[in-house]
Amino acid sequence: MHKQAVALVGLGSYLPPQRITNEALCERLDTTDEWITSRTGIRSRHWAGPGVATGDLAVEAGHRALKSAGLAAGPDAVDLVVLATTTPDHPCPATAPDVASRLGLGPVPAYDIAAVCSGFLYALAAASAHITAGLARRALVIGAETYSTILDPADRTTNVIFGDGAGAVVLSAAPGDDEDGLLLGMDLGSDGAGRDLITIPAGGSRQRATPGTAVDDDRYFTMHGKQVFTQAVNRMTESSQTVLDQLGWEADQVDWLVGHQANVRILNAVARGLGIPPERAVINLDRVGNTSAASIPLALADAASNGSLVSGARVLLTAFGGGLTWGAVALTWPDITAV
Ligand code: UT7
Repeated sequence: MHKQAVALVGLGSYLPPQRITNEALCERLDTTDEWITSRTGIRSRHWAGPGVATGDLAVEAGHRALKSAGLAAGPDAVDLVVLATTTPDHPCPATAPDVASRLGLGPVPAYDIAAVCSGFLYALAAASAHITAGLARRALVIGAETYSTILDPADRTTNVIFGDGAGAVVLSAAPGDDEDGLLLGMDLGSDGAGRDLITIPAGGSRQRATPGTAVDDDRYFTMHGKQVFTQAVNRMTESSQTVLDQLGWEADQVDWLVGHQANVRILNAVARGLGIPPERAVINLDRVGNTSAASIPLALADAASNGSLVSGARVLLTAFGGGLTWGAVALTWPDITAV
């Protein structure tokens, strides 16, 4: 049976206006610009102001992705919304239905995906599977985060790394299987034995918020940086290689490696491990930091806007995050304008 092909047909992104420089963080934390840039490659990030939630950023990015796809926001625009986030507006309900409703998309199925920094690739795979199965013709896939709301203000390691933002793409059933923009290969994985390496200990059913429980410090995001670093390099390299093998692509046929923007040293190590020249790795973390589920669509939007990503380019996406989770997706770049 012919498998329905799926193409990326629109891309939008949104960053909250407040830019936080390394210098600004040095004013209240025991850190230096030199440490942050040399250890991570990050120079600034954006943080949402008080009262701004993940759903607000997701609506902006979603609106722009629909525009990029040439779709007017309305009940006929898409028939599915999948939102990847670690920082939903509320523990219950999911944020996606609210975003779909605020975009005027009608009574479409809408749900959240929680795969931390791999969330966008998990969402891409889920939406693509809906289309391949004939359950949807077009889907809006969003990665949106407000990590500034879950960071311990006293934790210098996480404060210097994470930023807020949102990116979104529109996927569509493709008429043929040889046009630009097609999703060509995918790999996803997880290992729950590493659950404690990246976690927010409290707020779920494991550590219940009952009156009198001292959970305050446990509501913050925590990460064992060194172990995560090693896992991130190994898992992203392996997952990317799996997809290259699926497609019979050699490393030198990859025009752009778009990895989760966690740390420039991680991205360079993954490129090296795959045999892809580091100059073919898209980098925007210097300006946005690690935006978790928003990281890959924000990097794509940056590379599309600066002219790096051109129609027909072979693109390899890869991500790693809490869970542990990881994944890789290969596509050819479509003829679109990122908004
Ligand atoms: O998004 C999901 C995936 N996340 C990642 O992939 C993140 C992976 N991890 C990393 O990117 C890195 O491990 C970090 C950037 C988090 C840390 O870099 P590192 O080179 O692994 O540093 P480290 O944790 O080994 O710490 C080295 C030193 C320590 O001091 P001592 O023990 O050597 O005295 C830390 O306390 O750096 C210290 N340190 C800092 N110093 C200045 C930690 N954070 C800071 C800071 N400023 N912000």
